[in-house]
Amino acid sequence: MRTLNVALGERAYPIHIGRGLLDNASLILPHLKTPRAAIVTNDVVGPLYLERLTEALRAQGVRTSAVVLPDGEAHKDWPTLNRVFDGLLGERCERSTTLIALGGGVIGDMGGFAAATYQRGMPFIQVPTTLLAQVDSSVGGKTAINHPLGKNMIGAFYQPKLVLADIATLDTLPERELKAGLAEVIKYGLIRDLPMFEWLEANLERLLARDPEALAWAVERSCANKAEVVAADETEQGERALLNLGHTFGHAIETGLGYGEWLHGEAVAAGTMMAAELSRRLGWLGDEDVARIEALHVRAGLPVRGPRLPVSTYLDLMASDKKVEAGRLRLILLRAVGRAVIHADAGPELIAAAIEARCA
Ligand code: NAD
Ligand code: GLY
Repeated sequence: MRTLNVALGERAYPIHIGRGLLDNASLILPHLKTPRAAIVTNDVVGPLYLERLTEALRAQGVRTSAVVLPDGEAHKDWPTLNRVFDGLLGERCERSTTLIALGGGVIGDMGGFAAATYQRGMPFIQVPTTLLAQVDSSVGGKTAINHPLGKNMIGAFYQPKLVLADIATLDTLPERELKAGLAEVIKYGLIRDLPMFEWLEANLERLLARDPEALAWAVERSCANKAEVVAADETEQGERALLNLGHTFGHAIETGLGYGEWLHGEAVAAGTMMAAELSRRLGWLGDEDVARIEALHVRAGLPVRGPRLPVSTYLDLMASDKKVEAGRLRLILLRAVGRAVIHADAGPELIAAAIEARCA
């Protein structure tokens, strides 16, 4: 097992990464306020891992309740969030009960938001079971649900007490979901870690083959990058926005098509290529840089073009991005492979041209 720390003062927490951690509830025990936990999961992950986690906790004297939600991005919404509250209240969970989110980013984001607001805040723990959640969404305390008009628009910054990433859970992850997670792994290389990008160029097929050592390396390196950024800028006043490379375009794809049509990672991949294209048009990336970024995404089985929505739809949806400030859209672009910047001056024509060039 490897352990990283998210250095946030009194809100600091460990990220444990390893195989078989799900059965080792002694890792969880020190982070519970009382021996009582509510596990929030869904009807895909629950049948695979709920029993094991429940048993492991019971063996440590922890009483658990479970809330099993319907699966999917389309359920990251108010009615489903309310089902978490129904379950917590129905089981008489207390403010000191710990909510454990067992699942991918949807469960982690929604469970975290429920924890942030239930009785004004209960402790919570992330047990991520997708590659995307292990490398990104479980770390950093962004919690949210979607709104029909915008992705992750309703939420809170609320840090977990612990992230327990059991890499063995990735064995059961569908192929398409594994590839979607790779989009966020590639992101870290692109925005701030050129050696990581080069490692990915050399080792991508090992990740696709689920080589345990390669997966552990990618999860750890991603979390190390994320933990560093989050520790420096917890609530995204500056640098943390760089983690959103490709996301403004990507969120427009997800919202524009309807949640769940494209996976988040797929939308981020196509969005990253739009950001790369725009960076090329600004003279920051060369043709060979864009080709290099595209090649890695293609090898990962990710889309490198967005769906053909009207460009005006993209621009409309992007106008309500959370990075809009005083009406100005701020985009994350690439100065070079391995170096992202926040840029507010691209201008609508240039943005539209980059989208148009990167639509299917
Ligand atoms: P997801 O949670 O929908 O999980 C993907 C699919 O895999 C689901 O069907 C899920 O039930 C299933 N699954 C999960 N674990 C499994 C396992 N071990 N074996 C088999 N099936 C499994 O999607 P995701 O890609 O994990 O997360 C995407 C979400 O994360 C989006 O809503 C996105 O907005 C959010 N996100 C949040 C942050 C953040 O910082 N909070 C960062 C990135 C993404
Ligand atoms: N996934 C973007 C962030 O955590 O800030």
